Amino acid sequence: MNKIYIPVILGTTREQRKSDKAARFIVDVGSEYSELETELIDPKDFHFLGDGNDPEGKDQKYSEITARADGFFIVCPEYNHSFSGSLKRMLDSEFENYQHKAVAFAGTSSGQWGGVRAIEALVLATREMGLLAISYDLHFPRVQDLFDSQGNLLEAKYLELTKKAWQELIWLSQLLKNAK
Ligand SMILES: Cc1cc2nc3c(=O)[nH]c(=O)nc-3n(C[C@H](O)[C@H](O)[C@H](O)COP(=O)(O)O)c2cc1C
Repeated sequence: MNKIYIPVILGTTREQRKSDKAARFIVDVGSEYSELETELIDPKDFHFLGDGNDPEGKDQKYSEITARADGFFIVCPEYNHSFSGSLKRMLDSEFENYQHKAVAFAGTSSGQWGGVRAIEALVLATREMGLLAISYDLHFPRVQDLFDSQGNLLEAKYLELTKKAWQELIWLSQLLKNAK
């Protein structure tokens, strides 16, 4: 069986970021599905010049990843009731590679809402990019308390919630891939 490839995109370059632990956890959970290939995409590993959505503003490695991807799992912290500029810049560098592909979102925050407003903003932007969002979002409120320093999950319920998001995303990604 051909695996589907769904990268997990971390939505921040902030030096003291906590969202990386949630993103790595999502990758680890996804790696348990035999039909899925996944990996962490860290915006720190890419360079985007100029404005978005023009040939000179692309990163070849990111172009290749998005061309190959059958779907995307975006993990985004909430910054001032929206998502980060670095995530927007990275997403804006492509367009065709997103068309008719599925996307899921995990929001993180230090407060109690788990990035719900960041996800709402992302739904609008990614719809314009041609991505199709699943209707089930993941939220990691008080993300600083959910993982230990090694990145181990401290609250068991997030395992089931994360599996549910993966199952929805895999289902829609396979459906769209088969329709092409
Ligand atoms: C510039 C900035 C703005 C932020 N704005 C919000 C916000 O609007 N709502 C919120 O719940 N947390 C906000 N936070 C806190 C983040 O949710 C917190 O840092 C959390 O750990 C997730 O982001 P991180 O991966 O950068 O750590 C903000 C953090 C920064 C750096």
